[in-house]
Amino acid sequence: MDLKALAEAARTCRRFEEDRPLGMADLEWLVECARLAPSARNAQTLRFTLVSQGETCQKLFSLTRWAGALKDWGGPHPGERPTAFIAILMPENGNNLVCFDVGIAAQTMQLAATSRGWGCCMIQSFDRTAVPELLKIPSGMQVALVLGFGVAKETRRIAPMPADGSFAYWRDAQGVHHVPKRGLSELVAARY
Ligand SMILES: Cc1cc2nc3c(=O)[nH]c(=O)nc-3n(C[C@H](O)[C@H](O)[C@H](O)COP(=O)(O)O)c2cc1C
Repeated sequence: MDLKALAEAARTCRRFEEDRPLGMADLEWLVECARLAPSARNAQTLRFTLVSQGETCQKLFSLTRWAGALKDWGGPHPGERPTAFIAILMPENGNNLVCFDVGIAAQTMQLAATSRGWGCCMIQSFDRTAVPELLKIPSGMQVALVLGFGVAKETRRIAPMPADGSFAYWRDAQGVHHVPKRGLSELVAARY
């Protein structure tokens, strides 16, 4: 698969094969991929907390919020929940440059997961008090982003932007998840 095809397949996934859990070795492989990503000043200040199955995984799931745009869906049902999480930690006093590192690491792991048939959802909507407590985040660090993973169960597709410009994603009657993306002509600000 070339990179554009991989990027197209790497849609956010929110329903998983919960009976086919990812293990710690799978999560370590994802962090191996993130380890090779660019880092501002090559400072590599990010750290990663890995959560595979079990009680901590269930507790962490309950502290995350999924698909705010799907108003009639409260998040993945039992049997379709993520089987693993990676929390990306950044220094509490981290500057904007570190935020770029977080995004690069997150997307690297999402693409890596997709390459193995796994799904990923980046989650910034989580309990910012309870999650650091649950994961015993080292002092001086904060949770920047939580990524949920599992074997992908749902079909996701890119859609053209609707005429009204609404960028909200939606799910059709067959349960397929559609994600509108702007076209190239809208994105290119200038050509010189
Ligand atoms: C920084 C960031 C934070 C996100 N936080 C959440 C979240 O808290 N809950 C959620 O369900 N999806 C979250 N998402 C997923 C977005 O909703 C998703 O990327 C968007 O709908 C576009 O879909 P796509 O990833 O398939 O292109 C987040 C994505 C990013 C990049």
